[in-house]
Amino acid sequence: MKTIVIYKSKTGFTKMYAEWIGEELNCDISSYENFPLSTIAEYDCVIYGSRVHAGKVDGIKEIKELFVGCITTKLVVFATGGTPLEAKDVINKIWQRVFSEKELKTIPHFYMQSGLNYKKMSFGDRTIMKTLAKILGRKKIKNSAETGCEKAIANSYDISSRKYIVPLVEFVKEQAKIL
Ligand SMILES: Cc1cc2nc3c(=O)[nH]c(=O)nc-3n(C[C@H](O)[C@H](O)[C@H](O)COP(=O)(O)O)c2cc1C
Repeated sequence: MKTIVIYKSKTGFTKMYAEWIGEELNCDISSYENFPLSTIAEYDCVIYGSRVHAGKVDGIKEIKELFVGCITTKLVVFATGGTPLEAKDVINKIWQRVFSEKELKTIPHFYMQSGLNYKKMSFGDRTIMKTLAKILGRKKIKNSAETGCEKAIANSYDISSRKYIVPLVEFVKEQAKIL
């Protein structure tokens, strides 16, 4: 099964996960920016990975549009985010925001926890995080999610691990047996 991992990454977490997946599946890997999109139909399986940004998955609209009418290539999506895996409700909401009911059932999707890297963050993103920290800091009464978020975004952190690629890798390996 001809497979490629295509990723978008600003601070390196998604790139790192894409490289781990590429190694494990022994397949091609490319950044979205360097990938010639017209060659997508040459692949049996495209694994698209990007970050969660303000509750949505970066670039998902474009990648879905690319697959309209593309029936021979299977799309698999993964997203990396600072939200810990245990926050299942939060993660489900992210998927519900970016996929329709039908897409939720037909596009396999996987979440991988990552972290925050202030050193590599763009000026715009750092400004958004600082503003959010200020808003939360000023709030006198906070619910547990807000308190957790305030603590989480105070500094850079890394909760990524290679083990989080296992469900996706196993899924794609199963597909390879079927196709
Ligand atoms: C402005 C901004 C907004 C973010 N919003 C979310 C979010 O809504 N949910 C989440 O889980 N992580 C969020 N994150 C964390 C990123 O998803 C995480 O750092 C991601 O792995 C970065 O991927 P990259 O290093 O490949 O660019 C946000 C990060 C930034 C800078």
